[in-house]
Amino acid sequence: MTKPYVFITRKIETEVLKEWTETFEVKMWEYEERPVPRAILLEEAAKADALLTMLSDKMDRELLDVAKNLKVIANLAVGYDNIDVPSATEKGITVCNTPDVLTDTTADLAFALLMATARRIVEAAEIVKEGKWTGWSPMLLAGHDIHHKTIGVVGMGKIGETVAKRATGFDMDILYHNRSRNVAAEERLGARYTSFEELITTSDFIVCLTPLTNETAGMFNKEAFMKMKQSAIFINVARGAVADEEALYEALVKGEIAGAGLDVFKQEPIGPDHPLLTLPNVVALPHIGSASVETRQGMIMLCLDNITHVLSGKQPKTIVKL
Ligand code: DGY
Repeated sequence: MTKPYVFITRKIETEVLKEWTETFEVKMWEYEERPVPRAILLEEAAKADALLTMLSDKMDRELLDVAKNLKVIANLAVGYDNIDVPSATEKGITVCNTPDVLTDTTADLAFALLMATARRIVEAAEIVKEGKWTGWSPMLLAGHDIHHKTIGVVGMGKIGETVAKRATGFDMDILYHNRSRNVAAEERLGARYTSFEELITTSDFIVCLTPLTNETAGMFNKEAFMKMKQSAIFINVARGAVADEEALYEALVKGEIAGAGLDVFKQEPIGPDHPLLTLPNVVALPHIGSASVETRQGMIMLCLDNITHVLSGKQPKTIVKL
């Protein structure tokens, strides 16, 4: 009997893969830093029973149409906006993601980015390393306080709630906006539900954690940035396309808002000549929300478990439902 064929779209390392080759035929794209070219992905998808994919792999209708044997896509991310889930579901292909295992790690990064942006940590570290520190001075790299300020979380799912939990340690007032009320967060953390309008006009820190959908694409637009306080700091750890980057740049240059901490961009990797990267009040990271060794191992294990489950006729642990 031939073994089911699993294609892994990026080089990953884990002990378990050795055992796996007894049950499955496994092939992996050899490079860690470089995504698999589209032509190879299409070729592999046409043969594979399972794909372990990255958020940078576009799993669209064209790909799903050639994937005649495909039973499961296990995406190494909680977000799945790279996958055409309705088409996959229509074709009987199970889509899995990696929720829960990355919640705390991603919330840690969101809060670290908020702090780094508010307290100008990156700028400060650079002047020391570049030998530009001429001595202590009263207002040298004075930033914004975080404690006792108002944080507004847009997208109060598990990660949003966990960011809000961290904010309680800084005695912050917590506002949130979400598709539906998160009563648990209200009761446990004292978070208050507001309209999007109220949140953006009254928060000192606006933290975007909403998934990218047709409804949320571009929701942080020119009007939204104009309504924010001039002292507001915008943090995006969700998906780049939720914000209009040109409008964000304008708002930062005109002083309509005070700063931005960005872990995600519309185009990833962002080009080194992107205007946002020229601004000192922007802290830019290379989409590392869930990037701790422990969490990435947990995400890989979850993807492998989901594939094993689906290929042996069992329910996967974390399925994406339409
Ligand atoms: C995800 O898993 O969707 C996050 O963007 C990872 O940082």
